[in-house]
Parts: sequence; structure tokens; C-alpha cells
Amino acid sequence: MNNLDSQLDKAKTILENNGVIGLPTETVYGLAGNIYSEEAISEIYRIKNRPTNNPLIVHIGDFEMLNEIAEEIPEYALYLAKKYWPGPLTLLLKKNKNVPDFVTAGSDLVAIRMPDHPIALELLKSLDFPLAAPSANPSGQISPTCAEHVRNYFPKQIPLILDGGECEKGIESTIVGFENNVPVIYRFGSLDLEDELKEAWSKAPLSNSEPTTPGMLYQHYAPKTETISTENIETIIAIHHDKLIGVLSYSFCEIKDKNSNVLFQEHLTENNSLIEAAKNLYQKLHHLDQLNLDLIVCELVPNIGIGKAINDKLIRASHKKINK
Ligand code: TXA
Ligand code: MG
Repeated sequence: MNNLDSQLDKAKTILENNGVIGLPTETVYGLAGNIYSEEAISEIYRIKNRPTNNPLIVHIGDFEMLNEIAEEIPEYALYLAKKYWPGPLTLLLKKNKNVPDFVTAGSDLVAIRMPDHPIALELLKSLDFPLAAPSANPSGQISPTCAEHVRNYFPKQIPLILDGGECEKGIESTIVGFENNVPVIYRFGSLDLEDELKEAWSKAPLSNSEPTTPGMLYQHYAPKTETISTENIETIIAIHHDKLIGVLSYSFCEIKDKNSNVLFQEHLTENNSLIEAAKNLYQKLHHLDQLNLDLIVCELVPNIGIGKAINDKLIRASHKKINK
């Protein structure tokens, strides 16, 4: 038996015995447990220190499981699932009564997705139950994009973290719900659906303003270090000469202010690629957060396509957003 097989076997045993594991997905790492096990689900909430009114995403490994989890599924939801699963799309659907209330925090809706990662898929296919998995970070902190991030957060609390390498997408799935059968984007994420939905539905079908997903109410993705997201790095640096600063810019840039205390600089992309920027975002934030700086200054990225998701994360990560 090779190493991966034995890790998968171990994961299966833990999950079948109401335990939780660290799970790689294409978006971010999850903290996964059996959706039918109250013990596993409360362990997830406890380990993450997650408010109990914030429901979990159900992860499935094949399409048949969709009907076990959801009902009255709009046709367009099925169309999207067929088109994008496995992939970074989470659908918010009417919950089947099979799904325990402790997974959905009492809501009649359930969030569901099929992750596109070979380890996650193989594990899910080997289990008789779906996995609930929020991102594997303490509530409110930066999401993990490699096994080491998860280990650093939870050195003792999780018996097993499956190592699936660096996450391909680097930011969370896009959440789409339905209002009167019309799709609505509730969380911008790594699947850019805005144009497609606008084209298919003349009524502009997006909303990230109304936080129907309780998770959107909280400050999120936040480094421990004070963080400011801005359109103009230089202006912020100029008013913080007294601080040790780390800069996270979109592409490479030279800081002109020679009186500043910029100790460390990172950039998100080498070649103006928003996809590359998304993949690097949390990785770079984790790194800057470990340097004991006084302040992290992040540059907002072009607000188009997946850039909207990146900016949403940057603004939620920051203690302040400053335009100029
Ligand atoms: O990419 C992802 O979606 C990752 C990976 C691990 O799959 N998971 C993830 O989970 O981001 P989490 O728990 O960090 O974020 C899930 C979001 C939260 O904002 C939560 O409020 C919302 O989905 N959500 C989950 N179930 C819901 C429900 N039944 N109704 C409304 N919102 C829901
Ligand atoms: Mg999360």
C-alpha cells in the first residue's frame, strides 16, 4: 500500500469514527467531518471557534448524492452543477430533510459543492456520507492554502491532515443561490460567473451586499497584523513612517518614499494575471503575517472578473479600507 493509500485509509477510519481531518481542495484546505455526525460537526465548530449560526458547506463526490442533500433543485442550478462540478462552485439549495439542522445552523437551505481535487474526490467516493468542510482556519483568520498552514493553526487538534500540495485556485468557491429561481451570487470566489449569469438572466443576478450567507457578516481572512487595503500604497506608507511595514502589491512596484520603513515587499503576480494573484493571495498574506511587522499595506487589484473576489477578501482582511 503506498503512502497516499494508507493516508486515505486512515482518513476514512477517522471520519467513520466521528473525527475530523484536514482536507485539501482546489480552493483552500477544509476541516472535514461526516455531515450526519453531531459529534464531528460540533468538533469542527469547536476547533475553529466558529459562531454556531454560521452553517457549513456539504461536499459530495458524485452527482447521485445531490438528491440526498437538496430538493426542488432549480433547473439552472442543475445546469451549473453539470457544467462546473467538480469545481469551485457552491450552490445554495433547498435542504432535503435528511440533512441535519446542525450542519445548516437551522436553515432550510443547504450549501453544496463537489471539490475538484483528486485526493478529496477519492476520499469522498470511498465514504458513505458527504463531508461538511469549512475552511481550516480559526474563525475570521486567513484561509489555508497548503497543509503547513493548517498544521500551524492546529498543531494538536487535528489527528490527520491530508497533504494535497498547494491549492490550485487559492481562494474560496463562488456561492450561488436562487431567488424565485433566478441565480444570485452570494460570495464572489474563484469561479468568475458574473458575465455568464448576466448574459443568461437579463435581471442583474448578483448580490454580495445582502449577507444571506451568515459568514459574510464577519471580518474575515484577517492577518493578526494590522492590515490596510488601499488603491494607493504610497499614501498609506507616507502616514505611517513610524511603523515597520510589509507591502503586498498587485504586480511588482518600487516604493518611492525613501523615509518609509518598508521592511518587506511581496507582489501577487508576475504577469498581470488575476488568476495567479488569487492563487498567491493567502500564501503571501500568511507569509507577511509571520514577520512581526506593525502594518501590512495591501494594494487592491483591478476590479474585474476574479479581481472582485480578491478585492472582497482584501477589504474584509483589512482593518480599514482607504480609497486614496
Ligand atoms: O472553497 C470553499 O468553499 C471552502 C472549501 C473548504 O470547500 N469552504 C469554505 O467554507 O469556504 P467556509 O465555511 O469557510 O465558508 C462557507 C460560507 C460561509 O460564509 C457560510 O455562511 C456560507 O458559506 N454557507 C454555508 N452554508 C450555508 C447555508 N445553508 N446558507 C447560507 N450560507 C451558507
Ligand atoms: Mg472560511
